Parts: sequence; C-alpha cells; structure tokens
Amino acid sequence: MFETVVRDGVVLKPLETWHSRDFAEHMSRARDHIRPWVGPTFVTETVEGARATLQRYATATANDGARIYGLWNDGRIVGGVMFVTFDSAWGICEIGCWLEPGAVGGGLITRSVELLMEWAFLERGMSRVEWRCRTDNDRSVAVAQRLGMRSDGVLRSSWVYDGRRYDKEVFSILRAEWMSMRPGVAH
Ligand SMILES: CC(C)(COP(=O)(O)OP(=O)(O)OC[C@H]1O[C@@H](n2cnc3c(N)ncnc32)[C@H](O)[C@@H]1OP(=O)(O)O)[C@@H](O)C(=O)NCCC(=O)NCCS
Repeated sequence: MFETVVRDGVVLKPLETWHSRDFAEHMSRARDHIRPWVGPTFVTETVEGARATLQRYATATANDGARIYGLWNDGRIVGGVMFVTFDSAWGICEIGCWLEPGAVGGGLITRSVELLMEWAFLERGMSRVEWRCRTDNDRSVAVAQRLGMRSDGVLRSSWVYDGRRYDKEVFSILRAEWMSMRPGVAH
C-alpha cells in the first residue's frame, strides 16, 4: 500500500472501506467542527454511516471518479483530502478537505492538496482544479489562495446549513498557471 509522508509522523494514504471503524472514531472528534462547512452526507454518526461514505468513494474510484485520502498522525486519522469530483474526459476535478480540530494550523492540508494537484496535473494531465467553499470559510479560502488558486466567482445562496442560506465561492487553478509556478517541472 502506498503512503506519502506529509510531515514528521503524519502520512497521507487512501482511505478505504476497511478503515470504517477508525474513520467513524475520527468523525466523532471532527463532527462538530466540520459540520457547518462540509456536505451533510459526509458527517456521519455511526460506523455503518462511515462505511457508506467510504464505499461511495470506493465505487467512484473504481470508475476513475472521486477519490479519498486520509491523514494519519501516529496511526490515528486526523483528517484528509479528496477529489470530490474527477472528470478525466473534461480534464476537470474538484479537491476538498477536512481536519479534526486538534490538527488545524499545521500546514497538513496545504501540503496534501499540493500532492493531489501534482498527481492531477502531472500524472493525469488535468486542465483545471477547482475548490469550492462557503465565502465565510476563512481557513478554506486561505488554503486555496496559498496554493495560487483564483476566485472564479460566487454562487449566491447556494449552501444551506442549520436553516440558513450561505454564499459559496469557486476557486480554480489552470494547468498553465500551476506549471508557471514550477519552472523546473517538465510539461
Ligand atoms: C479548512 C481546513 C481543513 C484548513 O485547515 P488549516 O489547518 O487551516 O490548513 P493547513 O493544514 O493548510 O494549515 C495552514 C495553517 O498552518 C500553518 N502552517 C504551518 N506550517 C505550514 C506549512 N508548512 N505550510 C503551510 N501552512 C503551514 C499556516 O500558517 C496556517 O496557519 P494560520 O492560518 O494560523 O496562519 C480546516 O479549517 C477545517 O477542517 N475546517 C472545517 C472543515 C472545512 O472547512 N473543510 C473545507 C470545506 S470547503
């Protein structure tokens, strides 16, 4: 099984259905923190719910679609990143992320998303990587900006949480923009 070291003691590797119990335990630590910002079906309450999330990704991955990767710190899941969508025919994918509260502020997501972008652009020849978040999700906006993404605009009133509607912003980076930030990388 492949795994990539993101930082001392923290590895990124595919999150699979056999991790359901660990993922459910992680979700119990992360749930309150992530719920306002991520889709409701992702925030499960049980091992069966966690397994259903991972099974959805496994099925999509088998069809070269969405993929999910966990971040393990000393053997415990602390968050992760995913290709929310992956459309190789159109050359467009969307990356998403989450962390449990104790893992925030260490640069784990910025580095992990960099790794996914590298794979998308270099290995898979994608043309455009997207990032979508609530406009008031300051930490998520900061990740997009730190990685050189630009705002494509705001989807007004397109996110619902706790009976209220919020605006969402779409960020993206194009292949040529990403390449221009890495002069040493062969196209
Ligand atoms: C969005 C979220 C994952 C971002 O987490 P994060 O820890 O801020 O992002 P990173 O892991 O990239 O870390 C960046 C922070 O680490 C710091 N950092 C330390 N070392 C770093 C490094 N080598 N590289 C980059 N940043 C580093 C940065 O300064 C920054 O901290 P600051 O904002 O206090 O200055 C987190 O806030 C979260 O889980 N939110 C709830 C769920 C969510 O919103 N998901 C996204 C839905 S769109």
